Amino acid sequence: MDKKNFIAIAIDGPSASGKSTVAKLLASKLNFLYVDTGAMYRAYTLAVLNASLDPKNEEESNSLINKIEISFNDENHITLNGKDVSKEIRENNVANNVSYIASYKNIRLFLVSLQQKIANNKNIVMDGRDVGTYVLKDAEVKIFLNADVEERAKRRFNENKEKNIKSSYEDCLENIKKRDYIDSHRDFCPLRKADDAILIDSTNLTIEEVVFKMEEIIKSKGYSL
Ligand code: CDP
Repeated sequence: MDKKNFIAIAIDGPSASGKSTVAKLLASKLNFLYVDTGAMYRAYTLAVLNASLDPKNEEESNSLINKIEISFNDENHITLNGKDVSKEIRENNVANNVSYIASYKNIRLFLVSLQQKIANNKNIVMDGRDVGTYVLKDAEVKIFLNADVEERAKRRFNENKEKNIKSSYEDCLENIKKRDYIDSHRDFCPLRKADDAILIDSTNLTIEEVVFKMEEIIKSKGYSL
């Protein structure tokens, strides 16, 4: 890819729309760093649960701000206080509580500032809910990835099965609907398509087709791959 400066690609969208899978693939094809901001909210949630604090209580949850260390190791796995927690953050107890944690403004500010530090002066693909609207609002390329809620529940159910995480299709559907609602109704940085983001509906697309569409979008912005 030609580059005069660093290029940031922001990929936002609701739960299980396929963001992480395609963002990771795209980043590896372009040789860009990949940052999964959802993993950071999940790691914070895990820290709250591990400390026996109540994720539904904002004040209690805020008490870990600046007291925990969340980062990515050499394998690009998420770490909490130096420990690889990439498996633990996918468990149901984290999935069921993460949207409360992500609705607290001070926790968002803490994690957004980490995200901006990681992205500084790098070619980067970052995925989340507010990357194009807030975290990297000057990103060169912005994509909003969506899919029908039933298709997303099916994908999450299959993903859980592969990872040996117990769940039913109905549980996945309920969890996704609940998170969609909380994510898009919170006051600070709700899930929303940036005005200048390009929408991709992945309901009937394979992973490769989505990545292909993304590459076409990047090229249409004048960047050669
Ligand atoms: O894997 P999935 O798409 O279900 O979610 P995720 O990307 O791991 O994010 C987990 C949760 O973190 C989301 O449901 C949001 O509540 C929150 N989140 C957020 O608020 N802002 C972000 N930039 C990323 C995630």
